[in-house]
Amino acid sequence: MKILMVSSECYPYAKTGGMADVVGDLVKSLTSMGHEVSVILPFYRDVKNYLNLENINIDKINISIDMKTDSFLFEGSVLKWEVNGCCFYAIQNDRFFDRDFLYGDSGGDYFDNSKRFAFFCQGVVRFIDSFSDYFDIVHCHDWQTGLVPVWLKKGIDTLWGKRRSAFSCRTLLTIHNLAYQGVFDRQEMNFINEKKPFYDYLQMNGKVNFLKGGLLGADSISTVSPQYVKEIQEKALGHGLHRIMILRSQNLWGILNGIDIEHWDSQKDIWITKNFDKDSLSNKEENKNCLYEKMNWEKSDDLLLGMVCRLVTHKGLDLLEEGFDRLMSLSIRFILIGTGDAYWCDFFKRMEKKYHNFRCFLSYEDRLAHQLYSSIDGFLMPSKFEPCGLTQMIAMRYGAIPLVHKIGGLANTVEHWSEKDQSSKGKGFVMQKYDVEDLLINIENMLLLYQDKRKWEVLVRKNMSLDFSWKSAAQKYLALYRYLVTITP
Ligand code: GLC
Repeated sequence: MKILMVSSECYPYAKTGGMADVVGDLVKSLTSMGHEVSVILPFYRDVKNYLNLENINIDKINISIDMKTDSFLFEGSVLKWEVNGCCFYAIQNDRFFDRDFLYGDSGGDYFDNSKRFAFFCQGVVRFIDSFSDYFDIVHCHDWQTGLVPVWLKKGIDTLWGKRRSAFSCRTLLTIHNLAYQGVFDRQEMNFINEKKPFYDYLQMNGKVNFLKGGLLGADSISTVSPQYVKEIQEKALGHGLHRIMILRSQNLWGILNGIDIEHWDSQKDIWITKNFDKDSLSNKEENKNCLYEKMNWEKSDDLLLGMVCRLVTHKGLDLLEEGFDRLMSLSIRFILIGTGDAYWCDFFKRMEKKYHNFRCFLSYEDRLAHQLYSSIDGFLMPSKFEPCGLTQMIAMRYGAIPLVHKIGGLANTVEHWSEKDQSSKGKGFVMQKYDVEDLLINIENMLLLYQDKRKWEVLVRKNMSLDFSWKSAAQKYLALYRYLVTITP
């Protein structure tokens, strides 16, 4: 099949979160299964730097993009490079994309994100048009690509001086996080010369909503776990879009993400002190000792907890804040890696000064994350909502027991372990409620289990044998693509 992945992030070129990993991994898996996969993304500064660093050759292809506003003409071009049998394309406009960050800086989101991603989407549609119905599937990801399915379905007025009516490819939009929707004032969109029907797709509560447009325009919608499919149809977790999700429920699918099991392989990981597998857990202990030396911590039998996440409140940080003093009074050590909101950076810095058994690293560094996963006993992920989550799977693969809130993909990947039910599918500790007491009780229960080394290691070994690869997810996406090309929308 000929598949075009449209995304604002793709590992290793541009990444702020899990979506980049998912797009990068899915592309790799589908390509290895013999499909022709292309990717198109914005030509950010990060992409430029990565290609330079890796000495990858870039070509300019013969398509030009222009977007007229009342007073300005934005122009762009399409660049191309090839890696491992996969073609990558990028929409270039340095004014929009040659910036320090992808979406915004410490002052907040960039003021012109509506223009930046409308321009990206127009460029993508122009690109697809120039390929004369070559692609079977156009697979879009999150709000930044939301205008693409609308234009592909309704046709497009604004480009290259003529109208292009509907396109023949089928579209799939994957929601990685419904909380981010791309909402802008209608006036900000005046530069798009489309008529009312186009805005009917996008309009919501007097504003323009890119994601809503995509959800109505796409032939099918998927999200990244079966549980999240249910949650986003409920008012409480639907972020204002639950009615749209119900409306489209016949075309809404949940496909659980995988992780790159070659990249996350404790037996071959080049960044960790000692490689290990489920039969050499003593090496994991050595990794821990080595990490302690680095931190200037003396050896100890305390339970080592880790957390790797974006520092935003819904990752459960408000619960941690509420329970921090009590948490620190337990026989634990805790290391956190993450970047994000200034409020949380300040908070964790203060806590680091206050408690000798807590450390935080407020910038993300791959090597350190690998070292942390290879050393920790327990992994915290008490998110308020979590469409899928990848880090809990990585942690289990590296022999750490997860503690999660029973929500979204966390509920689909971590079942509660209980002493009584030894035969169960239990993998970790699961908070039934988003509540600080529930969090602390589960940490205490984890500590109790940790004191029984034999039982602890049985669970660790069981988790390390689980299959988190992309194999089954990639097959499910393919089945969905195949179904899409057979239906008449
Ligand atoms: C987003 C979600 C996360 C998911 C990831 C990849 O970052 O918040 O839960 O795992 O996308 O789909």
